[in-house]
Amino acid sequence: MAGLLAGGPAWAADAPSPFLTRPGAGMPEQSAALPPGEGRDEVEGICSACHSIRMVTQQRLSRDRWDELLDWMVAEQGMPELDAETREKVLDYLADHLSPKTSG
Ligand code: HEC
Repeated sequence: MAGLLAGGPAWAADAPSPFLTRPGAGMPEQSAALPPGEGRDEVEGICSACHSIRMVTQQRLSRDRWDELLDWMVAEQGMPELDAETREKVLDYLADHLSPKTSG
């Protein structure tokens, strides 16, 4: 109710002690930017190695365009080539969550 609008997360309202940490505290801030889903860990691990994951999440591309972008990342930016299985997973994730059809 009021607590939500006051900017505090709901779980904090009843916290008995200020020393409790919320689940996931200490995780890099950028990890929150990727929506959950199959392949998320791979995308975060691989794609945040060189640049902020925001570089990825701010894009909205079709699966074909993501495919081309991965080629470009390998050819021009020095990304290690992904094995076929990982690449499929990454592409599925990107196409599912970061395509022009999705809002977030
Ligand atoms: C080996 C380093 C490296 C890795 C790993 C890497 N990138 Fe990049 N990426 C770059 C560099 C360098 C740029 C260019 C940054 C710039 O233009 O300032 C870039 C740029 C981008 C851009 C912006 C393209 C544009 O048109 O501006 C996107 C989107 C992107 N990367 C997505 C990814 C995704 C998705 C992954 C994981 C599959 C990934 N990157 C992994 C190095 C990497």
